[in-house]
Amino acid sequence: MPWTRSRDRAAADPRDRPAGPPSGAPAGSRRVERGFFEDYPRFFETSETSSFPWRLHLRHEAIFTEYADLFPGARVLDIASHDGRWSLAALQAGAASVVGVEARPELVANATANLAAYDLAERAEFVAGDVFEVLERDRPAVDVVLCLGFLYHTLRHTELLTRIRQTGARHVVIDTELHRSPEAVVRLADEHVEREGNAVADAFSYGDTVLTGRPTLAALELIARTQGYAVERLSDWDGLLRDNPDADQVRDYRIGRRATLLLSTSESRSR
Ligand SMILES: C[S@@+](CC[C@H](N)C(=O)[O-])C[C@H]1O[C@@H](n2cnc3c(N)ncnc32)[C@H](O)[C@@H]1O
Repeated sequence: MPWTRSRDRAAADPRDRPAGPPSGAPAGSRRVERGFFEDYPRFFETSETSSFPWRLHLRHEAIFTEYADLFPGARVLDIASHDGRWSLAALQAGAASVVGVEARPELVANATANLAAYDLAERAEFVAGDVFEVLERDRPAVDVVLCLGFLYHTLRHTELLTRIRQTGARHVVIDTELHRSPEAVVRLADEHVEREGNAVADAFSYGDTVLTGRPTLAALELIARTQGYAVERLSDWDGLLRDNPDADQVRDYRIGRRATLLLSTSESRSR
């Protein structure tokens, strides 16, 4: 595949496997012949954060192919919208509108330019600001929340899930690093604010460092449950990685240190 630069090191430990169950998809059915972002190559240039082709293409599969039925006609909130990569994908999946919230103004500028370049600016709005402040202030009403690549850049998980619940969203797609343990624990780490993909300083941080927490899957399930959400499904990274053996820059998914999953409210689960 032309996108492959170097092959990920194969998982050495047999316990290293994706966080979800073994794939039930027929062999070959998750093969990606043409990645979504091949039609939107600006996104390979407008971010310094994991904008590798295979990684973006497979994440797109894990989010928008797996949960395709959520998007037609939906109002979408994209938390930590970065350069607009997933806001654009939501609109192309049929969303009626998308609001992106992103703390770094230069990334908001990139997102705005990207959506305009692909003629999708009309249905997109990007707000520059801290997601906790913006959600408390603006109280957007949406159907679907995308929380992609953000949960492990904060320790304020309960506050985040509270704000998400207050949007009225019945579905939340989360893509996150996970700490690997069966226990419901959150592993702490400090993170420097200089890096583009990291947390920004907020009212609870001191100096250049923000305290963050990486939940286990059990912890995430518990945090979500206390706000009325349950894990409906984990994306089929096992099938995606099996059928795309050339894929690189996805080792975190391969060894279960990262997952994509769908949270839903109890009303929507009993549809
Ligand atoms: C790892 S990147 C994820 C980008 C994109 N959502 C994705 O999954 O590919 C994390 C993003 O969160 C943004 N961010 C960090 N802290 C934030 C905050 N408090 N409010 C809003 N955005 C924040 C960063 O600027 C960065 O764009």
